Amino acid sequence: MAVSLVVVKEQGDETRVAATPETVKKLIALGFSLTVQAGAGKASGFSDELYRDEGAKIAKSVASAIAKADVVVGVKAPSKATVKAMKTGALLIAQLNPYQDASGVKSYAAQGVDAMAMELMPRITRAQSMDVLSSQSNLSGYKAVLDATAEYNRALPMMMTAAGTVPAARVFVMGAGVAGLQAIATAKRLGAIVSATDVRRAAAEQVQSLGGTFVMVEADEEDSGETAGGYAKEMSADYQKRQAALVSEHIAKQDIVICTALIPGRPAPELVTKAMVEKMKPGSVIVDLAAEQGGNCKLSKFGEVSDHKGVKIVAHANVPGRLAGNASELYSRNIFNFISAFYDAEGAKLAIDWDDEIIAGIGLTRDGAIVHPALAAPVAKGKNNGEKNAS
Ligand code: NAI
Repeated sequence: MAVSLVVVKEQGDETRVAATPETVKKLIALGFSLTVQAGAGKASGFSDELYRDEGAKIAKSVASAIAKADVVVGVKAPSKATVKAMKTGALLIAQLNPYQDASGVKSYAAQGVDAMAMELMPRITRAQSMDVLSSQSNLSGYKAVLDATAEYNRALPMMMTAAGTVPAARVFVMGAGVAGLQAIATAKRLGAIVSATDVRRAAAEQVQSLGGTFVMVEADEEDSGETAGGYAKEMSADYQKRQAALVSEHIAKQDIVICTALIPGRPAPELVTKAMVEKMKPGSVIVDLAAEQGGNCKLSKFGEVSDHKGVKIVAHANVPGRLAGNASELYSRNIFNFISAFYDAEGAKLAIDWDDEIIAGIGLTRDGAIVHPALAAPVAKGKNNGEKNAS
């Protein structure tokens, strides 16, 4: 019997979908039997018809399909009812937010569901095509610049006109990871004068190769600013003080600030204080992509565009979902690449190998137990438990 897979419609304001007509077609070609919940792709621009054309069944109510499903895929954690309807031993694949949603993780174990949190994908070469954080952050970085331009009442490129010169805008990007680098590239393409900062020394070269100026506090001699996994770490109090002084001086001259700084498993570092916002020119714009993790800017209001003494602070929720068509396409391919890597086409069955680094990295629950090392054992205080295994 073919492996059955259900694509659920997301809850709330989520606009993305975990499978597109393209990946549905590919999954069916592999031998899967597909059911898509009616309307699942609508907000991303994929009608039920498009899925049906590729061979998926469309179901108004997926409860009975879920009860028989071997695999359920989603963008975010599904509803409690969906989990309760799943059969023992079925796979749940989505961004499950396990560090913030302990009760969800417990419910997967209680239901006997093997839950896979896609955002914990190890950053190893083999898993690059399954890396949802990269695929979504890249789009967020792009959209952050567009969101900034929408709130900014001036132009980004320099223009020499008969009526005089329009100066180029100054854009400062804080955090030069996947989102930050795309923000730098996008702002450069629009003609802005771009600078960026990061705690990781390795980021300097990447910023410069995109035409940005790197602004950085010198760390202690041996400190590269990153963990063995290539992620940022929390810096010393002295470093943070020096960084704040440098940023404060730099920020006062900027028109647009794009905040993307994150430390895995910890609240976002606070980099832009109220005093710094007040040093900026009225009409300037701050976009805080870290708002969901507490924000890089003290004044960010998650899910809102606010105004502080003439400075606009943009803190939209679910930024990749604001480009739902592309975000769903890339996310769905990440999901497809993951599933197809653990599928035995000859035997027409899933081949989940719990000794595999990928499964060990993202698997939360197995056979009724919570098995992820960062969740199963008590977490030591101050430990960077969100870090993914990285190359
Ligand atoms: P992230 O989303 O966790 O953080 C964003 C950026 O904020 C990072 O560059 C981080 O260093 C920076 N940051 C943290 N604290 C800061 C502070 N106080 N001040 C200034 N900047 C701060 O990181 P992301 O985008 O996921 O990438 C992290 C690294 O992983 C990058 O080097 C990236 O190139 C690498 N990577 C590797 C992949 C692989 O498959 N090998 C895939 C994707 C990313």
